[in-house]
Amino acid sequence: MNRDGGETVDSEAEAPAIFEVRAISKVFGGIVALDEANLRLEAGEVHALIGENGAGKSTLINIATGVYPPDGGQVILDEVPLELGGPRSAAERGIAVVHQERNLVGAFSVAENLFLGNQPRSGGLVNYRGMFSEARPWLQEVGLNVDPSTEARQLSPGQAQLLEIARALSARCRVLFLDEPTSSISETDSEHLFAILRELRDRGTAIVFVSHKLEEVYGLCDRVTVLRDGRNVITGRRLADISRADIVRAMVGRESQAPAVAAGRQSEAGAARLKLEGLATEYGHADVNLTVHAGEVVGLYGLVGAGRTELARSLVGLGRITGGTFSIDGKPARIRNPYDALRKYSLGYVSEDRKGEGLILSHSISRNVGITIWDRVGGSLGRVSERVVRPAVMRQAESLRLKMSGLSQAVSRLSGGNQQKVSLAKWLAAETEILLLDEPTVGVDVGAKAEVHGLVRGLADQGKAILLISSDLREIVQLADRVIVMGNFRILGEIQNTGDYTSVSKAIMERITGAPSVNPTSLYPAIVRTAISHG
Ligand SMILES: Nc1ncnc2c1ncn2[C@@H]1O[C@H](COP(=O)(O)OP(=O)(O)OP(=O)(O)O)[C@@H](O)[C@H]1O
Ligand SMILES: [Mg+2]
Repeated sequence: MNRDGGETVDSEAEAPAIFEVRAISKVFGGIVALDEANLRLEAGEVHALIGENGAGKSTLINIATGVYPPDGGQVILDEVPLELGGPRSAAERGIAVVHQERNLVGAFSVAENLFLGNQPRSGGLVNYRGMFSEARPWLQEVGLNVDPSTEARQLSPGQAQLLEIARALSARCRVLFLDEPTSSISETDSEHLFAILRELRDRGTAIVFVSHKLEEVYGLCDRVTVLRDGRNVITGRRLADISRADIVRAMVGRESQAPAVAAGRQSEAGAARLKLEGLATEYGHADVNLTVHAGEVVGLYGLVGAGRTELARSLVGLGRITGGTFSIDGKPARIRNPYDALRKYSLGYVSEDRKGEGLILSHSISRNVGITIWDRVGGSLGRVSERVVRPAVMRQAESLRLKMSGLSQAVSRLSGGNQQKVSLAKWLAAETEILLLDEPTVGVDVGAKAEVHGLVRGLADQGKAILLISSDLREIVQLADRVIVMGNFRILGEIQNTGDYTSVSKAIMERITGAPSVNPTSLYPAIVRTAISHG
């Protein structure tokens, strides 16, 4: 089989497959998500499933785990074709999954979510005490330090992700699908997870691992399957035999044309545009001093729970400033909400939480992106303005390689990474003077990530002021002129970015570890947990 000139299959003698999806197709309202896609798993391997945003990875997982029925093709366990009536029938057969989007019942406790559907019972009633004590070892296993009786809605995004991982592990499965399991957890938690996965693999579990971080893929996985536009371009090849460049080429179907970004460029810093002096907030920030000049990208780095997102939220009125001064272009800024920030100060905020506050999922792409442009072109929220903004929206969609059926497609119908691209496009199209970017490339594929970096650098070169929050150290070193390190809701230091990853990351880590060591979960104040929870 060699469908579009790219497919290669390992020629080695194959061990029997424990699980297989064979020639699976799926169409959503005219959009082909999968076109005779294949995935073949052997016992005791970690298999990377990768591809650009919208390539069909999550759809394949949803079919393999009984969430959707396929339009064609077969799901095969132990060489026997399966009729999966739903997620439950997959679970009963030892097929477990951590989906890309969180799947917790907010009002239920951590322990109830962990054992959802099979809580320990005594005499027909749920035995809470038994359940809580059974939950503890699983939570410990993934490093989730919360009480089992905590309501799931109180968890931070990273904690929620760990809980779902614990749930999948507790299922004692034979086949385990993990769809971008590391998107919201820290590097330390990821390393911990990988250690557990290697152990499971060595005991014979077949694991499918989806990630846009190729370092993780190479560090963890044995073989790789690559999808492009719903088809296989690489099927089950050993990672040891394939280079990173070949994988990227297979994913994007061309040589990577992403603009090379000059790392750590020393910009001609212009006038101070955004300035914080002795800032304090209701979240617990104290004495935060920080300036972003015209024409520069300032990186804000810290561990999960350091207070970076909460700082950005406070600046756009989503949290209360309780002391110090916040000025824009030398004048005190008074901002009640993100809309106010945009209108009064041309300040844009790309939220980390695309579903909660970034996007209106039921609306079209053009409406979501256009919403920040309408004001600028002077229209009301009607048809005329939609026509005026369309070309601007289209430009952004093209530059980010948004995979869509058209601009009128509802955002809810896009793949996870493409939704993230829409929330970015919305603010890039707004052409604001000051931009706060919170984890702008989480879940975004390798090619688009480079595009985003080029666009952000380009904005700085035009004289815009950019504050970049990112947990991706490479991204920070690539984009920022200076790096501010935050920990425990305070500024721990500032580092000039020379562009040399090794020395800059070392300097950053020294600032972080030199700080009083505190348990990161205790740094997440209750108020933040409530603000970010939504089911
Ligand atoms: N429920 C749905 N309704 C309509 N279209 C859908 C639906 N789910 C997925 N699609 C479409 O199917 C295609 C594949 O999406 P999928 O979510 O499988 O991609 P993915 O590879 O997981 O991408 P990402 O890396 O962004 O998560 C996309 O074009 C997407 O828009
Ligand atoms: Mg996906």
